[in-house]
Amino acid sequence: MGGRGPAGAGGTAPLPSEGRPAHHGRTRARGGDTRRGRGGSPGGPPGPPRGHRLGDRGPAGRRHLRDGGAYTPPGPRAAGRAHRAGAGHAARPDALGAARHRGLREGAGGGRGSAAVDHPAGAGAVTRGDLDPLAPLRPHVHNILPSVHTTWAAGVLGSHPSLYSRSPLLWNAAFQALGLPAVYAAFDVAPEGLEAFLSACRAAPALLGFSVTVPYKERVLASLDGVDPDAEAVGAVNAVVRTPQGRLVGANTDGPAALEVLQRLEGGAPAGDRPRPVLLLGAGGAARAVGAAIARGMPGRALVLCNRRPDRAEETASIIRGAGAEVLTVPPEELEEVLPDVGAVVNATSVGMSGPIRTAEGVTWLEPFSPLGPAAPPLLPPPPASGAPGLGLASPAVPPAAPAAPAAPAAPPAAWWERAWPGIVRNLEISLRRAMRLRPEAVVLDLVYAPAESVLLKHARWTGHAVANGELVLIAQAVEALLRLCGPLLSGRADVRKVVQRAMQAAGAQRTG
Ligand SMILES: NC(=O)c1ccc[n+]([C@@H]2O[C@H](COP(=O)([O-])OP(=O)(O)OC[C@H]3O[C@@H](n4cnc5c(N)ncnc54)[C@H](OP(=O)(O)O)[C@@H]3O)[C@@H](O)[C@H]2O)c1
Repeated sequence: MGGRGPAGAGGTAPLPSEGRPAHHGRTRARGGDTRRGRGGSPGGPPGPPRGHRLGDRGPAGRRHLRDGGAYTPPGPRAAGRAHRAGAGHAARPDALGAARHRGLREGAGGGRGSAAVDHPAGAGAVTRGDLDPLAPLRPHVHNILPSVHTTWAAGVLGSHPSLYSRSPLLWNAAFQALGLPAVYAAFDVAPEGLEAFLSACRAAPALLGFSVTVPYKERVLASLDGVDPDAEAVGAVNAVVRTPQGRLVGANTDGPAALEVLQRLEGGAPAGDRPRPVLLLGAGGAARAVGAAIARGMPGRALVLCNRRPDRAEETASIIRGAGAEVLTVPPEELEEVLPDVGAVVNATSVGMSGPIRTAEGVTWLEPFSPLGPAAPPLLPPPPASGAPGLGLASPAVPPAAPAAPAAPAAPPAAWWERAWPGIVRNLEISLRRAMRLRPEAVVLDLVYAPAESVLLKHARWTGHAVANGELVLIAQAVEALLRLCGPLLSGRADVRKVVQRAMQAAGAQRTG
């Protein structure tokens, strides 16, 4: 694939997780939040793709996901409060009344003399006069956070989630359905501002936690205070729970969610003659989580892993082997050869996703490309610094007076298209040709959820394959993450999972349909 190597001419820059050691096969405690799980079963491997040798299988290391921290459910006062969320929340006091105080609060009683409300997420208390749960975070994000008066907050951390992420839509619909006075926002954070943002999260009493997206799933791990065993094993985090003590504990719900969707997709596709290997495109946080989940949930299924950067491919392959699967790595130039041998393709690269990709060197876009072909889009110079982090606000509780402009436009400008189009044309031609090489029964799952139909999925659909986009994965992982972040607030309620699932599915369908 063109564009290999870090920040090669015209290529996108290396992601910031480079150089971090792999942590597979063991757990790493950052304050007693990790726990060993039970052993898995590796199962027998199918034959390797032609001309390639599968690597050694490591020991299976199945681990349990579990809640990363405990909370103090809200005090009774919270139940009676009226809330107004940017996304149109309707607070239903009965939901909160059901939650019981567990006495885990730390340092409660702060505030400005108004009625204090015990907060599940910890240190200090949220008061009647201080109901902007996002206040501590405003100075540390590039985008404009909604103006809200809810008791709790959550969000998604990424480089520009405000421009493409569907998570706010899904989570806010679920909060509303649950009657939970909480808001979920997008947190656009530049790499150089990540540590300051995390510190602000620790000191934000109303924050329940946050999701993590591109490009921080791996990088954030080293800066957290604890990591659950699954996230530790794959070296990537997609959800962070803020504990009552203000500690940030990482979890990973991506892998099981993608596995669930892949199994459903294959269940509905015509059966092949044997379980053929899964082609996993990518080697980032999502690829690790998905690969490890396949290793554990589909014993005996081999994987073929293809990634732009070979060192990262090997690192990720070794993590997946540690979870029990046979993994063959192939360089992008050899992708063509393995395509007729695989039974499923899972795209876990960012190639095809909408929104700008911002690096220290500049900004680019990947939506017009397919991960089946080379994707080396030109970089435009980084946009000028824009706002919030540089405003030097005296108090984090004071929102920026003037709206900060987004750090990069959602759609590429004409100058980018002029330089990018020859590469796009080449990518499309190669991708379609490669899609035609897949076996008819091969299924294609793209973790990319925006746009709803990526170039990869379009080419796979055109060539007759069963396909699924990342929307289903997004919902499945979000349900799990929401239950972790908010579970203790909802402890008295039955059928919470179903309510959340239905609300998120309805919101997703509304938007796509
Ligand atoms: N639907 C869901 O719920 C869900 C869940 C998780 C992730 N995702 C999606 O999965 C994707 C990956 O997420 P992540 O967290 O793993 O991101 P990440 O850690 O930043 O990894 C990005 C991956 O994309 C590859 N990549 C980036 N630019 C490329 C290019 N120009 N050409 C070829 N490969 C390129 C990287 O290759 P190198 O290693 O060579 O840099 C790496 O393998 C994103 O689109 C994300 O939105 C969706």
